[in-house]
Amino acid sequence: MNFELTEIQSLIQNTVKEFAQSAVAPIAAEIDREHRFPAELLPQLAELNLLGVPYAEEVGGAGADHISYVIVIEELARVCASTAVIVSGHTSLGTWPIYQFGTEAQKEKYLKKLASGEFLGAFALTEPGAGTDAAAGLTTAVLEGDEWVLNGSKIFITNGGYADVYIVTAMTDPSQGTKGISAFIVEKDAPGFSVGEKEHKMGIKASSTTPLYFSNCRIPKDAIIGKPGQGFKIAMQTLDGGRIGIAAQALGIAEGALDAAVKYAKERVQFGKPIATKQAIQWMIADMATQIEAARLLVYQAAYNEENGLPYTKEAAMAKLFAAETASFVTNRAVQIHGGYGYTENYPVERAMRDAKITEIYEGTSEVQRMVIAGSVLR
Ligand code: CAA
Repeated sequence: MNFELTEIQSLIQNTVKEFAQSAVAPIAAEIDREHRFPAELLPQLAELNLLGVPYAEEVGGAGADHISYVIVIEELARVCASTAVIVSGHTSLGTWPIYQFGTEAQKEKYLKKLASGEFLGAFALTEPGAGTDAAAGLTTAVLEGDEWVLNGSKIFITNGGYADVYIVTAMTDPSQGTKGISAFIVEKDAPGFSVGEKEHKMGIKASSTTPLYFSNCRIPKDAIIGKPGQGFKIAMQTLDGGRIGIAAQALGIAEGALDAAVKYAKERVQFGKPIATKQAIQWMIADMATQIEAARLLVYQAAYNEENGLPYTKEAAMAKLFAAETASFVTNRAVQIHGGYGYTENYPVERAMRDAKITEIYEGTSEVQRMVIAGSVLR
């Protein structure tokens, strides 16, 4: 067993760290305050090959492994959780279904552009009445001649309004339950497709989260991914990988908050000494650091399993569950260590604490992760 990064993984880590510090950190607080999607970062991320990290070079990606991918998300999230989810939503959810299940023609048309960052991708499963119960969606797709006609709506779609391509699930045969759901590729300018207003969120404010509307939205017959009825499994498998990305995001948020808390504890003097000399602070730091190490092992193990063709449904759920709860715990403690200053926007831990919460909710709540883990352990 080897816990060291390879030369390539270290190189990618250094590259993304440098980019995160030079290009993302300086705007992170501002884009959060202004709820501004950082569109200017996308060409820079593409230039560094960070928008298709785990995909082969032949299809436009960086040709790196899944550990490298989680390192990229982790390092971005250390300074800006919004930027991290823009990349994770695009890579794991908006690109992977085409990479894994797309036809040659679909790969030719979309994959190169997505993996190279020319296109941004998004994934649309959730509906107003279908959150945790993902199979309860009401959006329908009916084949009419050479076209699928989609009707319905989606909510909480990451990268909504900025994506070029949306992976959309819709019911094609209501009598078949989950086996009546299919997955489609919808281009941003498909007739009958529109994007609603951005949500005003507690955190990850610079990422765009919107509803999508399908009103007799017409897409070509060959825009289906896989066969009719395979959409639910495609979505679940997509989320297995997506959850590793969100786990990496949570890990990065926690690491950024710990860094800030350590720095502050060493600088802040009370009772004549830095507060880092106080056992009350040291114990908080010890617990934070220990949970982060444990989270990192789970996240990297899940990525290792995906990379090596091993099962990773349970591992991804465990990584996301533990890393998300770690992010909430660590950011809460980081604010506590900062005292009153931590409750202001002048210190990054305030944003980190707000950003951490979503990692316990999206791509399956912590309760869903427990359902998946228990289902696997008890099977
Ligand atoms: N891989 C492959 N197949 C899977 C699977 C997986 N991980 N999980 C389920 N399936 C298959 C099952 O084997 C089953 O197939 P069979 O009928 O052939 O046996 C079928 O799918 C139905 O499975 P379940 O009966 O377990 O389905 P369910 O309706 O009970 O749902 C659930 C299970 C785990 C609760 C699922 O609905 C779920 O994951 N819900 C949460 C949804 C979610 O994560 N949404 C996130 C939205 S995306 C997002 O948040 C993105 C963003 O903004 C960044």
